[in-house]
Amino acid sequence: MTDTLELRRQAITGIALEAGAIAMRFFTGVEQLAVSMKGAQDWLTAGDGATETHIRKRLGEIFPDDAILGEEGGGVAADDLWIIDPIDGTANFAHHDRNWCVSIAFVRKGVPEIGVVYAPALGEMFIARRGHGATLNGEAIKAAPTNDIKRASIEVGWSMRRPQSSYLGIVETLMSAGASVRRSASGALGMVYVAAGRTDGYVELHINSWDVAAGYVIAREAGASLNDYFAGDAIMTGNPIICTAPRLSDLVRKTVGI
Ligand code: IPD
Ligand code: CA
Repeated sequence: MTDTLELRRQAITGIALEAGAIAMRFFTGVEQLAVSMKGAQDWLTAGDGATETHIRKRLGEIFPDDAILGEEGGGVAADDLWIIDPIDGTANFAHHDRNWCVSIAFVRKGVPEIGVVYAPALGEMFIARRGHGATLNGEAIKAAPTNDIKRASIEVGWSMRRPQSSYLGIVETLMSAGASVRRSASGALGMVYVAAGRTDGYVELHINSWDVAAGYVIAREAGASLNDYFAGDAIMTGNPIICTAPRLSDLVRKTVGI
């Protein structure tokens, strides 16, 4: 018999494909993008709302007893909880940059169990279930073997939620240690790029659960090292994230001090 987590993994993969197709209608101009700002550098488009509404509707039909927390529609933590970011990398989406994704996670009693990160404009679907490995378009993925920070490429995420000086401090310490520092403006994709061995780390001083919950499962299953992001009230209020190639973990954590 298929267990309920496997049923959820299968269902959410299909829902992510549908959600990606809806988001693509806005990205390609079939529907009006209708860009607005929630705050400085905090972007919103009509695509975010329409995509989240669809995901909520489909989850509600299939798993009516599960709770939902979404970036646009809110929600509260519960034992069986879906955490949704309908479009992560909205600034990229609004600028017609293809580096954005739909991110959906299932968390049971505070433990992230399933993660799906789908980047339709890139044709990439990352999926993982705790204890069952991580895949990209059906092929197993693994974090990089990098052990020398002087060969490492590390993304430092940025938002207006923390002072610029703290962000610049982390960039400076990583660069001084020899890392190449980048920022590609989607936390969820930043995490799965570590999982796929494309980069060696993703670090951000504060990030919301909808940005990282799915990527967390995928990165962990791919062998990346992660901090205890879900400690405390992270689901509702966020936490710092540090996700690295396993052999760089101690050094990067010591360098950035989180
Ligand atoms: C943001 C992106 C960004 C990260 C921010 C997030 P949004 O989400 O993931 O890369 O650094 O912390 O808020 O606004 O694109 O959904
Ligand atoms: Ca986001």
